[in-house]
Amino acid sequence: MSRTAGSLIGKEIRKNPNLILGLATGSTPIGTYKELIRMHKEENLDFSKVISFNLDEYIGLEGIDQNSYRYFMDKELFNDINIKSENTNVPSGVADDMEKYCELYDTMIDEVGGIDLQVLGIGVNGHIAFNEPADSLSMGSFIVNLTNETISANSRFFDSIDEVPKRAISMGIGNIQKAKKIVLLANGKRKAEIIKKILEDETITTQIPASLLLLHQDVTLIVDEDAYSLVKSEA
Ligand code: PGA
Repeated sequence: MSRTAGSLIGKEIRKNPNLILGLATGSTPIGTYKELIRMHKEENLDFSKVISFNLDEYIGLEGIDQNSYRYFMDKELFNDINIKSENTNVPSGVADDMEKYCELYDTMIDEVGGIDLQVLGIGVNGHIAFNEPADSLSMGSFIVNLTNETISANSRFFDSIDEVPKRAISMGIGNIQKAKKIVLLANGKRKAEIIKKILEDETITTQIPASLLLLHQDVTLIVDEDAYSLVKSEA
């Protein structure tokens, strides 16, 4: 999964060195980032003109906090490739006025012409970024109250569940759908149910935010065997 994803991303960067790259956190893309680092070191994959935008950040965590997504990105990718740090955008979780900051983040994305390639993981509940299952979803970046399911899923990265922030800033479904190309990654048995549901039901519902990707013109789903294990062969 990671090699396939890394190679797809690498190809896009070689085609367009000024690629606007949307990035995700979580355990899923770590292997892909390792692959990109390998391609940078061994195959001269050049990130010097790439601009990145991350999907989300916990509210209340500074970038130096080990659980922040800024810290994660520096550690898992940025520190080991030649992307310029001023070209890496991870939403701030500590802006004075978070509502205003959401608008600013959207403007920053629009000003560079929008995202060319967006990397996504998927939550066990079908969330993408922190667009949680709900009756309605946000177009632009927004502040979200995380669901108990997400807090519990993410508690594995924290010392205790009480330390998991309850709110986050996240790109909205509109930001994601506007990306020219999307790569959705899923691995492990934990993701098998949700992958089956999306591929077999073919129903679009805000209760499964990732199902909205069925409307997008250019999505590549890259899964490992475990995540695909429940899908009937004809799906
Ligand atoms: P995971 O999270 O990669 O840690 O499984 C994915 C997500 O919640 O979007």
